[in-house]
Amino acid sequence: MTTRAVCPGSYDPVTNGHIDVITRAATLFDEVIVAILHNPAKRGTFPVEQREALLRDCIGSFPGVRVALFANTLLVDICSELDATAIVKGLRSGTDFAYELPMALMNRQLTGVETVFLPGDPQFEHVSSSLIKEVHALGGDVSGMVPLSVMAALSEAVPQRPGGNG
Ligand code: PNS
Repeated sequence: MTTRAVCPGSYDPVTNGHIDVITRAATLFDEVIVAILHNPAKRGTFPVEQREALLRDCIGSFPGVRVALFANTLLVDICSELDATAIVKGLRSGTDFAYELPMALMNRQLTGVETVFLPGDPQFEHVSSSLIKEVHALGGDVSGMVPLSVMAALSEAVPQRPGGNG
């Protein structure tokens, strides 16, 4: 039986922390679908098509991993459609756990889909898409925290204020 998991997120934009979690998920499951979902609570910076292109650029060649874009849909419906039995999420901290636990329980109650939490690599504990954008915009150097293609996209999409450490 093929084991299939979904790694959902906004990926606005993908960071090296995301890539670490996706890479590790790919060692646990035969197939991993990286699902880009629009979170209506968050105003996006990058158009979803660009987030998809950036993800494909970074992880498109990983064996068993594919990228897919979904409209604002229940995650459990996406899992059912894809015949995925697990959702994989990275946890950077207890705050992440507090945010993720109710969603994991809700998703399991809805359809029985399980959530697998992977502890984030400590080197990326402070790395989030929103902090990356804020630090970059204020002139900070975020190279090493995001892939090179994302650095280039950030420079185009998020004007950088001169005078930081970037
Ligand atoms: O990268 P993010 O913004 O933390 O990802 C959050 C996301 C998109 C995974 C989450 O908001 C989600 O699962 N949205 C899908 C809609 C849904 O199923 N909502 C109910 C969750 S119990």
